[in-house]
Amino acid sequence: MVKPGGPFKTPPSSPLPDLVPSAAAADPVQTEIPVPRASRRSEIPAFEVMRITDEIARRRLAGHDVVSLCAGEPSARPAPGTLKPAGYTGPLGTMPLREAIAGHYRDWYGVELEPQTVAVTTGSSGAFQLVFLTAFDPGDRVALASPGYPAYRNILRALGVDVVEIPTGSATRYQPTPELLDAAVAERGPLAGLIIASPANPTGTMLGRGELSALVEWCRANGTRLISDEIYHGITFPEAGDPDPRGVSARELDPEAIIINSFSKYWGMTGWRLGWAILPQSLVAPLEALASNFALSPPAPAQELALTAFTAESYAERDAVVAGFARARALILAAEPELGWGEAAPSDGAFYYYSELGPQLDRFGDSVAYARALLERADVALVPGVDFDPVAGGRSVRLSYAAGEAAVEEALARIIRFQRG
Ligand SMILES: Cc1ncc(COP(=O)(O)O)c(C=O)c1O
Repeated sequence: MVKPGGPFKTPPSSPLPDLVPSAAAADPVQTEIPVPRASRRSEIPAFEVMRITDEIARRRLAGHDVVSLCAGEPSARPAPGTLKPAGYTGPLGTMPLREAIAGHYRDWYGVELEPQTVAVTTGSSGAFQLVFLTAFDPGDRVALASPGYPAYRNILRALGVDVVEIPTGSATRYQPTPELLDAAVAERGPLAGLIIASPANPTGTMLGRGELSALVEWCRANGTRLISDEIYHGITFPEAGDPDPRGVSARELDPEAIIINSFSKYWGMTGWRLGWAILPQSLVAPLEALASNFALSPPAPAQELALTAFTAESYAERDAVVAGFARARALILAAEPELGWGEAAPSDGAFYYYSELGPQLDRFGDSVAYARALLERADVALVPGVDFDPVAGGRSVRLSYAAGEAAVEEALARIIRFQRG
């Protein structure tokens, strides 16, 4: 059971001294289930010019000849190649792209979305910043799994949010469960939010429909806002007949869940810096107000090009890339006996393999020293787990097989030689 000062870790406190804790944080013994609401700090006016810019774009799309004396925006410079000249778009992106993203949810998950609940952002990283600002106030408690993607915890801390790390391991396939969340609440108090990722980084593990439903139910019953990072959807290795071959979207189970996704991984468009959030209706206006002041609009040329992501040819091309990841993954799984490491997370999806180093820890002490020696002596770069799990990550490493079969084959041969030497 959970001991005082037990497993639910508080990272070093936020460097922001003048942040006022919210009511939920101040009152750990809450009796009523609070309804998640927009943060107090998102109660700022939208940047009106950007709202009108959006309205102009909508009217022009509908065929109106709008003369705009609205934005402080010079006429756009002619763009090279086939790109159209680009000015600001609406703060939540162009309507054609928001509609195309909604279409993607229809195709992959059978979910109907209002396109105006789709917010296009500068990568999913931009979505995290806006969503965390919109959903949480300073002092709110937000839970996430450890090991996990470090930017969640680091952005939350920078925003004065109290991060509750849930230590996970093989018993729960490195994912949070209602029982772990109950224990976290017992120890730390009510949670304003829960961030999940499936497939996850660094482990690659996924939540099945049953496990995800249980988390959705738990969040509903506890008034906890669920944020689901689905950036690795589509990079999955399903068995034949799997009813959820791309991953289960939390939006299928709960219209109040916030979904975050991106063009970076499945579509391999990291440098285009485009992602999105699917928002519950009540958060659209608060997030739009923040977005219109913080970034004015996501990049227009990238949005125009991103429309090409949703064609049949594009999906076929990306699925062929995923098939390559599957082959690279199979090489790693086949090499497990020769690597001789410890316990590995089930690598259900993404392009990550996360494993304890087992006997290599006796030789090198920790995964940081192991990774350093491997790079220096064998020119193979792996990530030690400390970034993802500051407590237990010194025992594990993450391999990304996104580099493909040939790179993985060569790396494995070098690792095995290095360990023998
Ligand atoms: C789990 C997860 N979420 C989000 C991101 C951020 O990606 P981007 O900002 O390119 O969309 C990454 C990047 O590695 C990631 O691993």
